[in-house]
Amino acid sequence: MGEMRIRALSTPGEYEQVVHIQKAVWGFSDIDLTPAHHFDISVKTGAIMIGAFMGEDLAGYVYSFPARYKNHWIQHSRQLGVLPRFRGRDIGKKLKWAQRRDALAKGYKMITWTVEPLLSLNAHLNFHTLGVVTRTYLADYYKAAPALSMAAGVPVDRLYLEWHLHSSRVVQREKGLFSTEGMEAAAALEGSCIANPGFPGAPDFSLTEEKILIEIPKGIKRNSRQPSFVLAWQGAVRRTMEKYFAGGYWIVDFFLREDRCFFVLRRPQKGEWDGI
Ligand SMILES: CC(C)(COP(=O)(O)OP(=O)(O)OC[C@H]1O[C@@H](n2cnc3c(N)ncnc32)[C@H](O)[C@@H]1OP(=O)(O)O)[C@@H](O)C(=O)NCCC(=O)NCCS
Repeated sequence: MGEMRIRALSTPGEYEQVVHIQKAVWGFSDIDLTPAHHFDISVKTGAIMIGAFMGEDLAGYVYSFPARYKNHWIQHSRQLGVLPRFRGRDIGKKLKWAQRRDALAKGYKMITWTVEPLLSLNAHLNFHTLGVVTRTYLADYYKAAPALSMAAGVPVDRLYLEWHLHSSRVVQREKGLFSTEGMEAAAALEGSCIANPGFPGAPDFSLTEEKILIEIPKGIKRNSRQPSFVLAWQGAVRRTMEKYFAGGYWIVDFFLREDRCFFVLRRPQKGEWDGI
């Protein structure tokens, strides 16, 4: 299969391959695909498009564009996709680190993106491996995009992720040094700081601990055939996150333990994330 190479994409032929990957990764119908000519014009006007090649094959890509957030210019990352047969070989995270390097070289301090809150694999990649943080829950965010829903009739909720490119949590992770916040929280798992333990019942909104955990189910996939199960979890997670974000907590980590998985929340220290 050959060596993996990561480099910027820049030709119409490469953007056509990206469209094919989009279709294979997300299973979109044609009307939901971003076309090659859109990638072409947006890269010409400041977007970042990076591909990962295994031998001659384009195995995956990451795409972001310039955007505004809280009065700052940032890159907003719209798509990260790796073809199923190439997954689990570090391609996804290498693409994200390459995206960070390119954004830094262009003078950006932050990359943002949105993620479905109930996907544990993505949460692990984003919070644990890459070191993103979030303080923002976007309920029913893409009203007219059923293709992005987890299951038929389930609203499309998103977390708005902030990747503070210069922060020590991100710099450390690029060197492979992971925070112990998740592990410490895991050790405290038997304690009383889980806001919504087990299958969604009534979440506890009264916790005041320094670290609070919010549970999500392990292994829900897109296109779930159990909309009522997804809806029940979504409702509990949404209300719990909205409540604790309003109280000043941020999600700072994520961990799996046996068959359960948890977001870790705490309040930031003063000025901890660059003042954006
Ligand atoms: C998310 C995605 C890009 C990951 O790509 P990938 O090349 O397989 O990811 P990597 O091999 O770099 O692995 C990233 C992390 O996820 C873990 N991981 C990868 N595949 C996994 C699996 N099937 N189950 C559990 N964990 C897995 C890896 O162990 C790694 O964690 P680590 O940092 O602790 O080692 C890919 O699964 C994908 O294209 N998914 C569909 C599109 C999508 O959801 N995009 C949005 C991403 S935010």
